[in-house]
Amino acid sequence: MSNTHTFLAKLIHWTFIPLYAYGIFKQVDDLSQLEDPSLLNFEILFATVFLVIVLLRYFYMKDTPTLLGAHDELPKGHLFIAKMVHRLVYFSLIMLPTTGLLIAGLFSLETGGVEIAISIHEFSADLSYVVIALHVGATFYSRFKGEGLWNAMVPIWKETEKNNSNLVSRLEVIEKKVYKEIEDKFIKE
Ligand code: HEM
Ligand code: HEM
Repeated sequence: MSNTHTFLAKLIHWTFIPLYAYGIFKQVDDLSQLEDPSLLNFEILFATVFLVIVLLRYFYMKDTPTLLGAHDELPKGHLFIAKMVHRLVYFSLIMLPTTGLLIAGLFSLETGGVEIAISIHEFSADLSYVVIALHVGATFYSRFKGEGLWNAMVPIWKETEKNNSNLVSRLEVIEKKVYKEIEDKFIKE
């Protein structure tokens, strides 16, 4: 039996996706919309709830080993990249509501600087798209190789065995070089 994430970890991971999608699709189209007090209050409430959920999730997950479903021991360089991407996902998900609340504060107080807050807010949204796409792409790549990580978090279309094709062997040679580079540069023994 391979390791798997807890039921609660899976529940949080999958129920968070509609919350994130809702936040992205309901986005404020321009600043003047915030003149409507009920919309402004709703945005503040939504951003606060979103932020609290992300922080609770972070504290619940932070001591869980990364890529815990792997059948074989993974190179340190591989774990380093995965942890970095997960941290960037959290960073972008914390920055989004925080800068949203900052926009609300600066807008209400009319102190100026709201344009800068909007730029950081938009950057946070773009960063979240990039790192989540990387995360999902890496997960499908791992599923293709049959490493076991998929089964630890995803309840459908389970992996059955490791893929031992020539293509995977060649890809793994390249990967090993990349992990070695990362270990030499960033991981001190
Ligand atoms: C909004 C979309 C998503 C976000 C924000 C997200 C975020 C995360 C984060 C932060 C983790 C690390 C564990 C944790 O702290 O919960 C994780 C784990 C994982 N995610 Fe996602 N995820 C998303 C979508 C997906 C999708 C669509 C898939 C697969 C098709 C996927 C597959 C996985 C897998 C397999 C793991 C376990 C990795 C491990 O064991 O370390 N995720 N996800
Ligand atoms: C978790 C909460 C939030 C999410 C996920 C979110 C998401 C987004 C996204 C995706 C954009 C478009 C960015 C782009 O064009 O690249 C945006 C823009 C914006 N958001 Fe948010 N937002 C949140 C909270 C807030 C809050 C609380 C406020 C203020 C009360 C706010 C005010 C704005 C404004 C003014 C813009 C820019 C509109 C423009 O282009 O002029 N957001 N938001």
